[in-house]
Amino acid sequence: MIKIAVIEGDGVGPEIIRGVISILESLIEAEFVFIKAGKKYFYETGLPMEEKGIQKIKESDVLLKGPIATPVRGRTYLSINLRIRREFNLYANVRPFRSYSGISIRKLSTVIVRENTEGLYSGIEEADGEKAIASRIITKRKSEKISEYAFGLAEEEKRERVTAIHKRNILKVSDGLFLETFYEVAKKHPSIAADDAIVDAASYKLVKVDNAFDIMVTPNLYGDILSDVAAGVIGSLGLCGSAQVGDSFAAFEPIHGTAEDIAGRGIANPLGAVIASSLMLTWLGTKNSDLREKGMLVRRAVDDLIERRIALTPDLGGSSTTDDVINALFRLI
Ligand code: NAI
Repeated sequence: MIKIAVIEGDGVGPEIIRGVISILESLIEAEFVFIKAGKKYFYETGLPMEEKGIQKIKESDVLLKGPIATPVRGRTYLSINLRIRREFNLYANVRPFRSYSGISIRKLSTVIVRENTEGLYSGIEEADGEKAIASRIITKRKSEKISEYAFGLAEEEKRERVTAIHKRNILKVSDGLFLETFYEVAKKHPSIAADDAIVDAASYKLVKVDNAFDIMVTPNLYGDILSDVAAGVIGSLGLCGSAQVGDSFAAFEPIHGTAEDIAGRGIANPLGAVIASSLMLTWLGTKNSDLREKGMLVRRAVDDLIERRIALTPDLGGSSTTDDVINALFRLI
């Protein structure tokens, strides 16, 4: 039986993750192992995550998680997301974006493949009261790994082009290394076109031009920001899921945060988390084709629900609740 570690998260996290679990329970035989973590747990106990949290994740096949808040003021802790990414070396953050007519402002079918463990999120910062410095680490090894991942994905999904996103005109050395490495890897994949774009121009193009990119591969920060741009283009942050993938483990989550402004009102869009669960089934499906089929079934149900406007939450212009959306998906799956 598949063992799925679950962190429900903060804010809207529990509302959407519970719905996703009910869908998964109807589709597969799985044991769900709940792990307490996040801001609420921290304020109650002084710990960001229960002591055996990492161990419980290690004993599971995958991790499904909701968004977790990292307080910026007062008592705080090292981001749990960063800790999990490092602990399991989840070097690729893979985020597919697909547009829907009447909802999205542009046609788009792109995957952002973001390096997930270094760059400006290396966690090395210092300050002396007058000056603050953050180290931005780019290594050849991680640049190679993320580029290989992007070209591998292009081959698997029969896509035509991988575009490296950078700011080499300013960050000549660090983004220079990222870009040189990308083109070295590209030579090993001659059937896929390779090009590059400067991050600011790429942001503009995403919003301004239909189908501007196929697969985008990026250092950590650019991918984080471009993901929210792409989410805005397709219609809502609540509509996007992600896979964080390492060599032997993966974690799945919606890309949005805790959405405190709508938490507890039962109106959060659960589709990003549902898409994350379909990515999870597809990832597990590399060893089990039945799971892969089920992953595709979930994704088709999401697309059908949106295209036919069966149940849309307010962020997509509808008036349905989180539960309405989950119930509608049950009928479609
Ligand atoms: P946010 O994504 O929580 O909210 C931005 C806007 O999008 C808000 O107006 C919110 O209502 C809307 N939104 C987000 N998810 C939605 C959904 N499912 N349905 C409908 N509307 C939705 O971003 P914000 O406010 O910057 O971050 C809040 C907290 O979340 C922060 O503490 C941040 O650190 C954390 N965060 C955690 C992430 C994770 O655990 N992977 C990712 C991003 C942020």
